[in-house]
Amino acid sequence: MGALVAEEDNPDNPVIAEVLKDDVQSAVAVAGHPIHAMMVHFPIALVFATLGADIFYWWTADPFWVRAGLWSAGFAFVFGVAAGIAGTAELVLVKGIRGRIGSWTHALAAMTLIAIAGTNWGLRLAEPDAVLPLGLSLSILAGIFTGLAGWHGGKLVFDHGVGMIVDPNE
Ligand code: HEM
Repeated sequence: MGALVAEEDNPDNPVIAEVLKDDVQSAVAVAGHPIHAMMVHFPIALVFATLGADIFYWWTADPFWVRAGLWSAGFAFVFGVAAGIAGTAELVLVKGIRGRIGSWTHALAAMTLIAIAGTNWGLRLAEPDAVLPLGLSLSILAGIFTGLAGWHGGKLVFDHGVGMIVDPNE
């Protein structure tokens, strides 16, 4: 397990040594594969699809891109909430996950992202003409927070070994 310990996790620190003892196996999984990790691709792709639709609308003024942006913003939010529920279940149920600060950093970035995605969808439902510049600005902000949430989520898996199935022979 040594290779999976993050550099900042100094095992000489007694508090961190205690946290490192706790299991980080996924509790919300199918055959050991974390459901959250399977779901996150949808909000990530749809946030960037919305940004793409807004840029194409700015570029072409074709109202098709307003409709495309409305649908992708809506599904980005819905799939974001669904992924967030699976992620929150992991956070609450697994002691080793909720004991790590990185999990909370990721959750904070992800929840901010979901709030931005919801605002972006709500704006389009209420004011279809507000795509430029407000919708586009929200799409850029959502893209930034998707990067932050995704990066911190990846750190949980690749640095802390959260949800990984490690062969005892390795
Ligand atoms: C809202 C609350 C959320 C919580 C509490 C949460 C929690 C977690 C946890 C515990 C993991 C480690 C893997 C696992 O156990 O499944 C993880 C991974 C990850 N999360 Fe989240 N998550 C949330 C929302 C999101 C959202 C909305 C996104 C998408 C933008 C996201 C993107 C990721 C990514 C990319 C990974 C790495 C997966 C991999 O590399 O296989 N998370 N998250």
